[in-house]
Amino acid sequence: MRTDELLGRFASVRISEVISESKKCRTLYFDMMHPLSFSAGQFLMVWVPGIDEVPMSISNWAPSRVGITVLNIGEATQALISKAPGDWIGVRGPFGKPFDIKCNNALVVGGGVGMAPLRPLVYRLLEAGAGITLLIAAKTKDDLIFYREFYELNSKALTLITTTDDGSSGYRGLATEGVTELVDVTQFDTLYTCGPEMMMAGLQKIAMKAGIGFQASLERFMKCGCGLCGTCAMDPTGDLVCLDGPVFTGKQLEKLSDFGKYYRDQVGSKKKF
Ligand SMILES: Cc1cc2nc3c(=O)[nH]c(=O)nc-3n(C[C@H](O)[C@H](O)[C@H](O)COP(=O)(O)OP(=O)(O)OC[C@H]3O[C@@H](n4cnc5c(N)ncnc54)[C@H](O)[C@@H]3O)c2cc1C
Ligand code: FES
Repeated sequence: MRTDELLGRFASVRISEVISESKKCRTLYFDMMHPLSFSAGQFLMVWVPGIDEVPMSISNWAPSRVGITVLNIGEATQALISKAPGDWIGVRGPFGKPFDIKCNNALVVGGGVGMAPLRPLVYRLLEAGAGITLLIAAKTKDDLIFYREFYELNSKALTLITTTDDGSSGYRGLATEGVTELVDVTQFDTLYTCGPEMMMAGLQKIAMKAGIGFQASLERFMKCGCGLCGTCAMDPTGDLVCLDGPVFTGKQLEKLSDFGKYYRDQVGSKKKF
């Protein structure tokens, strides 16, 4: 494939709405005019003029209205959450392998801003007729992302559970502790997750022990987002998170010795989590 095709179509988009999800997290909505297909779990490379281009999961896809949900942790994300309706940003994509939604009874576990790619997944699973238990985890009640939205959707098909480290909402403790209790009483087909990698590594162990399918969306440092630069390679297979992921199955993750242990920084140095 030609390099310009790999890089994806670039579009300048104008922000139409900004919704505050928590103190440090906002969802930015904009219209993408060219018709593109999207599957839950894919991401965009988002250009913040004058600052950087960074990967962001698509948290809303209702063409032409697209949303990204940004947690402020540094220069680019600070600039993004400071945007207001009318401001311009640039986007390329969507990129990456999505979640496989073939599932009857799903357990979906989102930690912090990891809820971003899981939000469209939950809607796709509901459309496909799956039963869903959604566990939203955060340090404290005010950091629970999309809690109100899914609280209002709570129904026969969707059970909402929360865990917080400080017990301010739902189960007091880690998501892994809540999931251990859940899988003891319910037989799920697949555990879908996105969030801190140590949480996902713990969940993979629980899913393997309980004989449940596992799909996790990973984050690695990304420069191109489309398989050109190699920044997001995982050891020892060389799988690229931008191209072969970001969603990996439990079987694929078993072969990735980096998962839950190491990541590479912007210059490629290996660092422990
Ligand atoms: C596939 C994917 C989907 C993501 N989805 C979301 C999302 O929906 N919402 C969200 O808030 N964040 C998401 N992230 C993380 C987001 O890209 C980083 O938080 C952001 O790039 C930080 O940039 P910064 O300039 O604000 O912070 P910096 O101060 O530059 O960096 C802080 C930390 O962010 C990470 N980071 C920095 N630049 C990059 C980069 N180019 N690629 C990957 N990680 C980087 C590094 O771990 C770094 O230590 C996603 C990352 C990936 C790989
Ligand atoms: S970000 Fe360049 S190869 Fe993945």
